Amino acid sequence: MYEERIKRSGMQGLITSAANAASFIKDGMVVASSGFTKAGDSKAVLKAFAALATTSPRKITLLTGASLGHGTDGTLTEAGAVHKRMPFQVDPVLRHAINEGSVLFLDQHLGESAELINENIIRPDVAIIEALLIEEDGSIVPTTSVGNTATFAAKAEKIIVEINVSVPLSLYGVHDIFSTGVWPDRKIIPITAAGTRIGTSAIPVDPEKIIAIVITETIDSPAAINERDDKTRSIAGHLLQFFEHEVKKGRLTNQLRPLQSGIGKVANAVLEGFIDGDFEHLTMYSEVLQDSTFNLIDAGKMDFASASSITVSQPCYTRLMTNFERYKPHIVLRPQDISNAAEVIRRLGVISINTAIEFDIYGNVNSTHIGGTKMMNGIGGSNDFARNAYLSVFVTQASSKNGAISHVVPMASHIDNSEHDVDIVVTDFGLADLRGLAPRERAKTIISNCADPLYKDLLKDYFLAASRKGGHTPHLLEEALSWHARMDITGSMQKETNSFA
Ligand code: COA
Repeated sequence: MYEERIKRSGMQGLITSAANAASFIKDGMVVASSGFTKAGDSKAVLKAFAALATTSPRKITLLTGASLGHGTDGTLTEAGAVHKRMPFQVDPVLRHAINEGSVLFLDQHLGESAELINENIIRPDVAIIEALLIEEDGSIVPTTSVGNTATFAAKAEKIIVEINVSVPLSLYGVHDIFSTGVWPDRKIIPITAAGTRIGTSAIPVDPEKIIAIVITETIDSPAAINERDDKTRSIAGHLLQFFEHEVKKGRLTNQLRPLQSGIGKVANAVLEGFIDGDFEHLTMYSEVLQDSTFNLIDAGKMDFASASSITVSQPCYTRLMTNFERYKPHIVLRPQDISNAAEVIRRLGVISINTAIEFDIYGNVNSTHIGGTKMMNGIGGSNDFARNAYLSVFVTQASSKNGAISHVVPMASHIDNSEHDVDIVVTDFGLADLRGLAPRERAKTIISNCADPLYKDLLKDYFLAASRKGGHTPHLLEEALSWHARMDITGSMQKETNSFA
């Protein structure tokens, strides 16, 4: 049985139940699981571990590539099975536990998250890896994501493999596994275009470390279908107009430069907007491939897309998996320290588009903390790209919750992407091109182009009063975070009169 999936002789004897495999995970262990933006994650063993923890308390430190699907983080949290989690999550139950302090969370740049392990600061006891197949030599071919899996496989003491038989064997060959090695002998990453292949199709593994194999057939959690609405359409429109302007100025061609886009409805709307535009032969050097990527490939607009995972809606997943050979020549899946590598992003001149929770009048971006204290998801790969991109774009709606929240604020309540890394900010009201602008110029441009009219005068008054006080980056320290404080107390950032004039 499963000869096509477990090619190494003798290894079929390791097939066991998820519950039995989970029993290898002991209290206090560090467990590293495959999974990146809900793709290619553990479908069975982590859930089975949660069930064990419910009847007999035990806790782990859990590392992944990025988020897990199927509510696994929530199930583990409800079972009291998570002591510490890194480097990213999107689960509401886990988020609540992080914010009440019952689960510890390390919010890391996704492109650097393998380094703690490579440098032996954290050592995984067990790795759980979803696989398409195991080769004769024991190496593992992953499924819909690569994430940190190659690092986990190299550094974990023991490995549990989940062979997912629902993933078609036609995925074989889509992965490009490459390791830079460690300092001082770190290798150059010789990627010179989104489509450059530099590695192998399987993750090298010492077969002696594989202690159990579990067979699964559950597909990845689907991404939500992001319908475009008026606000996302406006944001996308401003950005597409800006790209057209850059082409007219001769700074970009119709091919643009490799695109990176975060997940979510705005990023999706921007990419979908390329379908009707004049841009062609587009490429992506990103971390996630979403529906819009495959729509652009189908429309003949995108030549090639490189990322670390495929996270798509249910209909798109079915379309891909039943016809993978059609898409394979156009895509590659890489480890996240390669998809998000500063060296490559800089070389390729990537245009990065990510979403902000809020940005301030100087262009500092908060991507993670609501009201400066409550974790939302994590920084993800946003700064891997923003810091190194040719053009670093952040988008958000100008205001939300019927105007109660302004996403353009005097001072960001937490800073993930600093003014030094941010080139363009866009809201549904307009776009501010911050390149070449000093802080006082940035503030005027952002307030005038991006703020909701509901908040524009308040922001202007704040900036004028702060400017009178002086400083290179003028602020009124006693007022800078007062909008967030007011939101906390009254549920709205709006106020009747302003105190800055
Ligand atoms: N104050 C209070 N609440 C706020 C807020 C603010 N300034 N900004 C957002 N929120 C709330 C929203 O109201 C919403 O709450 P709800 O679900 O109760 O309605 C929630 O936070 C999410 O906001 P939404 O506008 O729906 O966000 P999104 O789905 O577009 O995601 C980020 C925005 C920033 C959370 C998301 O893009 C993210 O996690 N980014 C960081 C990681 C990243 O960039 N990854 C990609 C790199 S490749």
